[in-house]
Amino acid sequence: MADPQPIRFKDGAAYELTMGKWSHLVGGRFVDWLAPPAGLAWVDVGCGNGAFTELLVERCAPSSVDGIDPSEGQLAFARTRAGAAGARFQVGDATALPYADKMFDAAVMALVIFFVPDPVKGVAEMRRVVKSGGIVAAYAWDVTRGGAPFEPIWDEMRRLGVEPAQPPSKDVSRIEGLARLWRDAGLLSVETREIVVERGFASFEHFWTATTAHNVNVAIEAMTAEQQAQLKARVQARMPTDAAGRVAFTSKANAVKGRVA
Ligand SMILES: C[S@@+](CC[C@H](N)C(=O)[O-])C[C@H]1O[C@@H](n2cnc3c(N)ncnc32)[C@H](O)[C@@H]1O
Repeated sequence: MADPQPIRFKDGAAYELTMGKWSHLVGGRFVDWLAPPAGLAWVDVGCGNGAFTELLVERCAPSSVDGIDPSEGQLAFARTRAGAAGARFQVGDATALPYADKMFDAAVMALVIFFVPDPVKGVAEMRRVVKSGGIVAAYAWDVTRGGAPFEPIWDEMRRLGVEPAQPPSKDVSRIEGLARLWRDAGLLSVETREIVVERGFASFEHFWTATTAHNVNVAIEAMTAEQQAQLKARVQARMPTDAAGRVAFTSKANAVKGRVA
């Protein structure tokens, strides 16, 4: 199989169609688990189009929220998101955060750690910018164990001999990988949790459009029209629909949290 092109994050509106809803579903459960007190200063590392930033603003009564992401296309959407009003967004990289030491009470990576080429450095940076006693947390789809929302498509692509694009550091998405990263970074009171979420779609067509709209599926773009039609038919054949034609799919994320010493 040819190496797939890397996953790109260029278009915040397309991301919203594909991953925004999933991000809200899993992010909401993650916030419930964190149960943070009000009044914290947060940094949302890899904030993307602001899907999770919005949850911080709306549900966590923060004193401030900073969001950072390398993609200007994602940030442009985040800046227009009414639910994230008041958050400050800027371009930057998880492995070189443009913040002073101990500036924040909490740092999070929502569906990001497996995209960071050097996750060890990414966690060290979150730890550096959080005050003593503060929270460092993350969650990621359990990509290597079939937990991603794209899994039925990825699986059928592989059966057709097409390698789907994958997050470059996908091995850290395993629950034991996250726990090890957090402990090795010297974080205390490390806890992990699996988060399973179900998303319903009005029809298979809705599922297909919503799951392929975002250019995360760059390998699909590289397939011929005939291959794409074959892929779609194979995915449809394995997705059960109810009497009304609705489709539901369940995804699984792994979450981790710890405290700065
Ligand atoms: C799956 S999206 C998650 C976006 C958002 N946090 C959410 O929950 O919807 C992954 C994001 O990680 C960003 N990203 C990729 N590499 C990064 C890096 N080295 N540092 C920070 N963010 C990165 C991408 O630009 C993208 O917006």
